[in-house]
Amino acid sequence: MSDNHLTRIKDDLKNVSSENELMNVKSKYLGKKGEITLLTNSLKDLFIEDRKKQGAKINNTKKKMELLLENKLDKIRSELIDAKLSEEKIDVTLPPRGSSFGSMHPISQVLGEVVAIFTDFGFEVTEGPEIETDYYNFESLNIPKDHPARDMQDTFYLEGDKLLRTHTSPMQVRIMEKNKPPIKIISPGKVYRCDSDVTHTPMFHQVEGLFVDEIVTFGNLKGILIEFCSRFFGKDIKIRFRPSYFPFTEPSAELDIEWTDKSGDKTWMEVLGCGMVNPKVFEFVGYQHNQFSGLAFGIGIERLAMIKFGITDIRYFYQNDLKFLSQF
Ligand code: PHE
Repeated sequence: MSDNHLTRIKDDLKNVSSENELMNVKSKYLGKKGEITLLTNSLKDLFIEDRKKQGAKINNTKKKMELLLENKLDKIRSELIDAKLSEEKIDVTLPPRGSSFGSMHPISQVLGEVVAIFTDFGFEVTEGPEIETDYYNFESLNIPKDHPARDMQDTFYLEGDKLLRTHTSPMQVRIMEKNKPPIKIISPGKVYRCDSDVTHTPMFHQVEGLFVDEIVTFGNLKGILIEFCSRFFGKDIKIRFRPSYFPFTEPSAELDIEWTDKSGDKTWMEVLGCGMVNPKVFEFVGYQHNQFSGLAFGIGIERLAMIKFGITDIRYFYQNDLKFLSQF
């Protein structure tokens, strides 16, 4: 009898292709009114001996059936997954999803523009170390150990006489030590100072300029810088040269540009220091007295970018805020 049941359920399962159909087969045999359930119910009418025998047989059949049903269920489910997967196709002809490309940091953009303008003027580009010695950063630029000018450029000191350079001016000395005039270079790079407020960050960028020849004049200096400003900002910008002091230039000046500050007021912002190379510096690099003259300048790149893009707080450049950066 039970063997017969097993053969029949196997036949039934052969025609099953969904979970629903499987449930129907299951209830046909094992449901409340299923054939096996009814058989089990009828056991009570048998004598004890037969009841034991038949009971064991039925239980055995029931277990085998449950196993068959379980296996069939697994098979149905895995066939379903296979079918789904084979339906999914990759359409290589679809256009790609738009992806957002990064853009150049505004400071890199401005640095690139500044370098391009001076290369156009015939300046060669050369880069120097950010870790400098006290000698190149201060001493050889006519800033001796106890000079008050050191206070204006307080920096980060490293082991020995090393420090993070406070300006790109050390490159003036490094270049002149190795070359005889004519020299016409710019040197872009990072510089460091213990400073932080709306117009100062501890790290910022400068472009140093140096032009040394037999006769270089203050007129040349003004001409180069005025032409630079009008190329960089356009003709409408208002600039002024203001007398200043740097130990390594004489005379010295700063160049201010008119801009609108955070509170909406028009004021001047200092964007570069400049002057005629101090003969003391020529002595340090071993040039003959009175043989050459030179002009030098150091441009603050972040300041230029603030004016160009109308940004009132320099610290925005270094907060890595994509909402800010993606505007450029
Ligand atoms: N190094 C000066 C500074 O960082 C700028 C400067 C450069 C001034 C060259 C004169 C000549 O403030």
